[in-house]
Amino acid sequence: MENFKLTNAITIPKIGFGTYKAGNGNCEKAVIDAINSGYTYFDTAAFYKNESDIAKAIKNSNVKREDLIIASKVWREDLGYDETMKAFEKSLKELNTDYLDVYLIHWPKENPNDINWKQKNIETWKAMEELYKLGRIKVIGVSNYLPHHLINLMDTCEIKPMVNQIELHIGYLQKTALDFCVKNDILVQAWSPLGRGRVLNEESLKEMAEKYGKTVPQLCIRFLYQLGIMPIIKSSSICRMKENLDIFDFSIERDDMYYLMCLPQIGWSGEHPDRQRVYFD
Ligand SMILES: NC(=O)c1ccc[n+]([C@@H]2O[C@H](COP(=O)([O-])OP(=O)(O)OC[C@H]3O[C@@H](n4cnc5c(N)ncnc54)[C@H](OP(=O)(O)O)[C@@H]3O)[C@@H](O)[C@H]2O)c1
Repeated sequence: MENFKLTNAITIPKIGFGTYKAGNGNCEKAVIDAINSGYTYFDTAAFYKNESDIAKAIKNSNVKREDLIIASKVWREDLGYDETMKAFEKSLKELNTDYLDVYLIHWPKENPNDINWKQKNIETWKAMEELYKLGRIKVIGVSNYLPHHLINLMDTCEIKPMVNQIELHIGYLQKTALDFCVKNDILVQAWSPLGRGRVLNEESLKEMAEKYGKTVPQLCIRFLYQLGIMPIIKSSSICRMKENLDIFDFSIERDDMYYLMCLPQIGWSGEHPDRQRVYFD
């Protein structure tokens, strides 16, 4: 698979596997299936409570730890220097590894009303930078950060975030955050690249996918690929895992790209760092 090159010259694959609720309760099997389907990048988080399943999967697979890229995240209740150090050690233990390829701050605020979030972020980032300089993390970044959250870090940081993982899919492009990251050489990863399945029933997407002889999920993933965004996709079936990687043999035409970019909002999860969650039917 092709790679992205980050600002520190580390390379990571163009598509990653998401493990939140992967395998409908059998995450270990899902990760082994994903490895066998060709994924090498695995996205987890302390919050997902599946880091130990991923460790088991790696142990029981036929690949070496160093041939995989493991990304985890510090949970929003663990923001702060000491808390982050502690959370990192816990994640390493759960994952049965002595380093992380990628470590992200999961959310910029413990809750939308936290008035101390700016200082907590600065302290959390100090821990991230220290672990990076010690070689215990190869890539440091954030998740669910909008430009003002990033600016707060970038005003005081020594090392800029290399990755920002945000909800991003057809129907929820987050153009302002995306443009800010592109301008600042921060790789954008898309969580819920299929809108957790919510965008797959759109009639116009079905018609367009048919035109290219591909499926709607493949259209959604190819769309992100052409925008230089790294999708983190979850699936529990080997067949769909493989389908989601099979996007390199076609190209979405310019007019169709603009059509997809200009669709009105669909499939938003309702999760936002500065607002209480909005629930949709
Ligand atoms: N940073 C954050 O705050 C954050 C938040 C949410 C998620 N994430 C990460 O992003 C990953 C992906 O997000 P997500 O799981 O919410 O959503 P997603 O990958 O957009 O969608 C997953 C859903 O789509 C279905 N699906 C996958 N491939 C399919 C295909 N080819 N055809 C039809 N259906 C298909 C899956 O069903 P099956 O499983 O049955 O195949 C599952 O129900 C997570 O696992 C997690 O690692 C991060």
